[in-house]
Amino acid sequence: MQVPAKIRQAVEQQLEGLPLKQLRQAAEVLSQRYRTEAPTASAHLASDLAAAAYLAVRFPATFSAVRRAMAETADVHPEFAPVTQLDAGSGPGTAVLAAGDVWPSLRQALLLEGSAPIRQSGEPLVAASGIAAEWRAGDLASTAIPDSSEVLTRFDLVTCAYVLSELSATAQRLLVEHLWSATAGVLLLVEPGTPAGWQRILEARTALLHAGAQILAPCPHAFACPLVSPDWCHFAERVERSRMHRLVKQGDVPWEDEKFLYLAVSREERPVKPKSRVLTRPKINSGLIALKLCNPDGTMTQPGIRKRDKIYKQARRTDWGETLDFMLDNEQ
Ligand SMILES: C[S@@+](CC[C@H](N)C(=O)[O-])C[C@H]1O[C@@H](n2cnc3c(N)ncnc32)[C@H](O)[C@@H]1O
Repeated sequence: MQVPAKIRQAVEQQLEGLPLKQLRQAAEVLSQRYRTEAPTASAHLASDLAAAAYLAVRFPATFSAVRRAMAETADVHPEFAPVTQLDAGSGPGTAVLAAGDVWPSLRQALLLEGSAPIRQSGEPLVAASGIAAEWRAGDLASTAIPDSSEVLTRFDLVTCAYVLSELSATAQRLLVEHLWSATAGVLLLVEPGTPAGWQRILEARTALLHAGAQILAPCPHAFACPLVSPDWCHFAERVERSRMHRLVKQGDVPWEDEKFLYLAVSREERPVKPKSRVLTRPKINSGLIALKLCNPDGTMTQPGIRKRDKIYKQARRTDWGETLDFMLDNEQ
C-alpha cells in the first residue's frame, strides 16, 4: 500500500533540507536496533535526526502494517466506529493516523509517547488529520498509563504498535493489563512479524483471554495457537517506497514487504461468525493451490484446491492474511 498523499506530503515537508548522509547513518542505527529487538526503552529516538530517520524509513512500513491490521479488524467488526482512541508509544502518531484513515468516525486521541523529538515530529502530522489530539509524555513502563481507578473515561479504540519489544517482560505484562482496563471497545496490539514478536503476542493473548477479552482478529478462535515453533504466525504488507525513503535506504527497489503480527480483541462478542484465516502466501503449482489455514475449531490445516474444484477461482483470489469467503468441500 501507499501512505495517503496528504500524510506523505506532510512527512516529506519535515524531511526537506535535512542532511542526507546523517539521515542515512541515523536510519542505519535504527535498523540495527530493530533487528536485535532488545529492550532499550525510548533512548533510540532521542534526537531530532533519529526522529527524522524514523519518519523516512520506518513510518511508511509501520503505518501500512497498522492500517492493514485495522482494516482486517474492521472486516470482522463492521459496526465498530470509534470516536475516541488511546495510543501508547505513539511515535509520530502512526496508529492514530492509520485509525483516522480506516475509521472516519474518529474524533479525539490521547497519545502517550516518551520521546520529545518524535512527539514534535508527530504533532503537525496528527494536527493536519483533523483529529483532536492530546500528546502526553511519560514512561509507559511505569507511570504514563493512567491506572484503572484513574481511567474514568475508557476509549473506544486502544492501540499499541511496535512498542512491546522495547519493554521488559514485566513491563509488557503490566502495560497490556493497563491498556485493557482503558478499553471500552477494541484493543489492538501490533508487533514486528518475527518469532519473538509472535511470542509477545501469544503472552498478551493468554492474559487478555483470561481477563475476558473476545478475539476479533487474526485468530478465528480462542483455543491455543495451533502453530508450533520454529513456525510462527505473521503477515506481510507490501509498502511502496517514496523517493525520500529510497534515498535514505539507498535501495532501488520501489517497495518493501513489512512483516507484522497483530491481535485485535473486543469487550463485546465477535459480531460475525469466524472464518478460516490464510496463514501464508498461497502456493500455486500446476493448477494446485496450497493454502495454509487457521480454522475456527482451533486447528491449522493445509488443504490443496484443484482446478476442477468449484472454489478454485475464489481460492485463486485469496491472499495471505485474508479470511476465506468460501467453504471448503469438507465443510459443505
Ligand atoms: C518502534 S516505535 C513505534 C511508534 C509507533 N507506534 C509506530 O507504530 O510507528 C516505539 C515507540 O515507543 C516509544 N516508547 C518505547 N518505550 C517507551 C516507554 N517506556 N515510555 C514511553 N514511550 C516509549 C518510543 O519512544 C517510540 O516512539
